Amino acid sequence: MLDQLNAEQERFLAALPEIADEDALYQLQVTYIGKKGSITGLSKKLGKLTVDERKAFGAELNRVKKAVQAALDGRREELREAARARDLARVEDLTMPAKRPPRGSLHPIRIAQRALIDTFRRMGFDVAEGPHVEHANFNFDALNFQPDHPARDMQDTFVVDDRRGSEDLVLRTHTSPVQIRTMLGRTPPVRIIAPGTVFRCDDDATHSPMFHQIEGLYVDRGVTMADLKATMIQFTAAFFGRSLDIRLRPSYFPFVEPGAELDMQCPFCERAQGGTCSVCKGTGWIELGGSGMVHPAVLESVGVDPEVYTGWAFGFGIDRMAMLMYQIPDLRQMFDGDVRFLRSFSN
Ligand code: PHE
Repeated sequence: MLDQLNAEQERFLAALPEIADEDALYQLQVTYIGKKGSITGLSKKLGKLTVDERKAFGAELNRVKKAVQAALDGRREELREAARARDLARVEDLTMPAKRPPRGSLHPIRIAQRALIDTFRRMGFDVAEGPHVEHANFNFDALNFQPDHPARDMQDTFVVDDRRGSEDLVLRTHTSPVQIRTMLGRTPPVRIIAPGTVFRCDDDATHSPMFHQIEGLYVDRGVTMADLKATMIQFTAAFFGRSLDIRLRPSYFPFVEPGAELDMQCPFCERAQGGTCSVCKGTGWIELGGSGMVHPAVLESVGVDPEVYTGWAFGFGIDRMAMLMYQIPDLRQMFDGDVRFLRSFSN
């Protein structure tokens, strides 16, 4: 039995240096001096021994167990020490720049919209907003569109199916309903711009079914068309950094009287009429949008007395503005969703 005990101890001592981590060390401990360990097991045979033999073997068994435990503890400390040393030896350069997370960028239309808002704000205009899904009444009737006006036709307007067969809700075809919403909630003076998305059943190289407009509205006592022109001249100066001429051409919109197309002197060729400028096509002018004096019927529809107050309004496209700012040749590029296009606007 003594031989057996010595043999187990030898086996244990041979295995010990092979142990590389604390888990394996624990397994080794279980194998030899655990409850069912091979060394522990030898104590069961004590009963077969004489009293003297038992005393001697018992003492030897205890000695070996203690030695094994001490060896295990020593090895455990060694392993911990080694792990600590490895940890300390790890070289990390904490001054290395961190990896930058990918950054998004604003869409050119959003950039243009923000720039426009900024400019008009500084000129004393508040920003007003309205919903994309609009009452047909606000989009048309209150703006003096007659019930049979061609713009109300299904081919121009997206009608929202409310499952009741009524045509009360539409995707707003312009930002002008915000004029109604603003004036209903306030008494003049009113001086707002209303930027936002609008929708029309239109889809070709120069028209997208979804596009963006910015509306301007100024109503007070004694407002005239001269104020409109002056405001637009001031706007172009603030926006493009130098004065550009403004041209008003007679036109028709049901909610203004008189109505006018609003043109701006081409900022790229400075009105070299007959020239070769590709932006204004040699005309020297760029069409911004519609404008005019708010129709008395519109003022009446929102409870503003047209005998006391007058006002002007304009509405022009933001998308074209963005194309001008960034010299984007094709409108559709802006809505394709190609990230390579968007990336070129990141800063
Ligand atoms: N709402 C008109 C359009 O979308 C533009 C406009 C606005 C015209 C304000 C006159 C006054 O075409």
